[in-house]
Order: sequence, then C-alpha cells, then structure tokens
Amino acid sequence: PTASAHAAEHDEPLVIAHRGASAYAPENTLAAVDRAADMGFRWVENDVQRTKDGELVVIHDDNLKRTTNVEEVFPDRAPWKVADFTTAEIARLDAGSWFGPEYAGARVPTLKQYMNRVSHNHQKLVLEIKKPELYPGIEQQTLRVLRNEGWLDRTHVSSKLVIQSFSAQSVQTVHALRPDIKTGFLGTPATADLPKYAEFADQINATHTSISADYVSAIHALKGPHGKPLEIFTWTVDTAANTRRAAGFGVDGIITNTPDVVRRAVAED
Ligand code: G3P
Ligand code: CA
Repeated sequence: PTASAHAAEHDEPLVIAHRGASAYAPENTLAAVDRAADMGFRWVENDVQRTKDGELVVIHDDNLKRTTNVEEVFPDRAPWKVADFTTAEIARLDAGSWFGPEYAGARVPTLKQYMNRVSHNHQKLVLEIKKPELYPGIEQQTLRVLRNEGWLDRTHVSSKLVIQSFSAQSVQTVHALRPDIKTGFLGTPATADLPKYAEFADQINATHTSISADYVSAIHALKGPHGKPLEIFTWTVDTAANTRRAAGFGVDGIITNTPDVVRRAVAED
C-alpha cells in the first residue's frame, strides 16, 4: 500500500464487539465470542463478577434475572444476585434462551472458560471489572486467572489486553499490580481532571454521547502511564451515523453491539 493508504488504515478506529457480538448472540456467552470471531472481529469486550464460592464469571448485571432462567430454576432465591449463587448453581442456568431458542443451553462462562475460548479464537480482550466494590480483591484475582491462562506473558500483554472499570480505584489497583497491562477508565472526566487519570490509565473510555472533537483532542494531547498518547475507546455505538461522528473525532476504538454496522460505516468513510 502507498504511504497514504497506510496512514488511512492506521487512522481507522479499532472495532470492539461489546459483550461479544451481542446484537447477534446472547451477551457475554461463548456463543457471542464465537459469533464475533466468525464475523471477523478480533477484539471483544466482557464483564467480570464473582460467585458465592469465589469464582470469577462473565456476566454484565450483578443479578442473574435478565440474562438467565434463574427465577425458574431457583424460584425461592430472590433477589437472585450473582454473589449469592455458587458456581455449580450458575452452571445449571440457561443463559441463551432469553435471547433466542437457538441459543438454549448457553451458559454463564467462568472467566477461565471465557479466556480459553478467546485464546482459541486468537482474539483480544477489553476486560471490564464490574462493580468491584461488591467484590473485594477482584483485581488480584482477575490477574491470577489471566496469568494462569497464559495471558500475562510480558512480551504480548500490551497488544492483546485492556483492563477497564468505572472504578478509578480499581483501575489504579490493576496498574499498581501490573504496570505493563494497558488500562482504561470508564467515564468522561472533566478535561481539567484528565491529567490525573493519565497517571494510571492508558485510555479514557467515554460514552459516545458525552464526547466532542475537542474532548478527544484533549485526551490525545496527554500521555498515559506508558508515555504514549492517551487513547479513547468510545461506547456503545450501534449506528452508522454515530460511528461516523465518533470516527470523525478521531477515537481510537469503537465498542459496539453491532460490529458489522460499525465496520461498514468506517470502511465507507
Ligand atoms: O465497554 C464499555 C461498556 O461496556 C460499559 O458499559 O454497562 O455496557 O458495561 P456497560
Ligand atoms: Ca462492559
């Protein structure tokens, strides 16, 4: 390719399949990861929480109701919090039927199972530590699972993994424990506060409705903890118009439930 084609390729935002290809398969399941891979997407995003017996599982809500049949299987266990169920109990739940009958039998994966599948598919991961205030020590535990699954090899870690959270404290903890891992803070801090975040986060991952060209420029003008320009992955962008808007601001990544829509809009630009 010519030099300019190269630059154009480089300028395109990464497309990250949010909770897997979650418009097309049940979110945060192995089916959603596989669906993203089948569609040609290397980057997926997920959410991590902890069970009653201390295992990390991949699920968005802190409650099992919306994405599983927990109310049917355990009618007497209201309010059906993830943290009140053992891993074995969660493994019995159907996490696919709510989305469509063809996904009946999909499970809530453990983080270990999830990492195995992402590795198998040669995919890369934006891992969100969800509600860390409910799960003391979840940062250390997440890093332990990642290390055991071979994800913390120092030569590759920064190219295939971002750990993000809405909790600045949690992001700081991950950065302190493993400074070589790329981190993201979820939120839209005031521009004046960005330098503070740039001390421990490589990315400011703001909702797309909250950003502007000036905000993205302010992010890029700073350097993150690794001495590289601070980045922004924006979410959750599911239409061509919103993709063009975010891409026009120069965001580094777009987190989306409909990665095909985003890819098409970026390619047409
Ligand atoms: O990755 C960004 C996005 O996932 C944060 O919001 O609620 O979908 O986890 P939420
Ligand atoms: Ca998330």
